Amino acid sequence: MAGEGSGARAPARRPCDQWLSVGEVAARSGVAVSALHFYEARGLIRSERNAGNQRRFRRGVLRRVALIKVAQRAGVPLAEVGRALEALPVDAAPGKADWQRLSRRWRAELEARIESLSRLRDQLDGCIGCGCLSLRDCPLRNPGDVLAAEGPGARLLDL
Ligand code: FES
Repeated sequence: MAGEGSGARAPARRPCDQWLSVGEVAARSGVAVSALHFYEARGLIRSERNAGNQRRFRRGVLRRVALIKVAQRAGVPLAEVGRALEALPVDAAPGKADWQRLSRRWRAELEARIESLSRLRDQLDGCIGCGCLSLRDCPLRNPGDVLAAEGPGARLLDL
């Protein structure tokens, strides 16, 4: 019996095999159709219309969606993901080199956010049990004492 792995040749790919409906993209990527529409509205992915005016996505969209999801998990803002994807060909799947370059950059940004959050956590430690919320003394209320750098006198009107 001929089948997969038996040496039988796969049927020749027809051009339409390269295109996926939004439901197929959702099923294969694990991302909701509504999220795919959102990504498309933000320009992160792109579809074309077939003769029946239905959206069709190139197969490479699956790697784009995977990249978007991983970036989101790493806390990369969607606007930054969009800028990164703008630099890639819209009709081709992001390649290994693309992903290595982007993940290296996002790792550095993630590291900076971790350091910033660690500082914030340490400052919050000092606030627990205090409650002063003083512009003069509380590092969370006046981070980096920026008001002091502006000189003496009243400065905030929106207290
Ligand atoms: S609340 Fe007092 S130091 Fe932050």
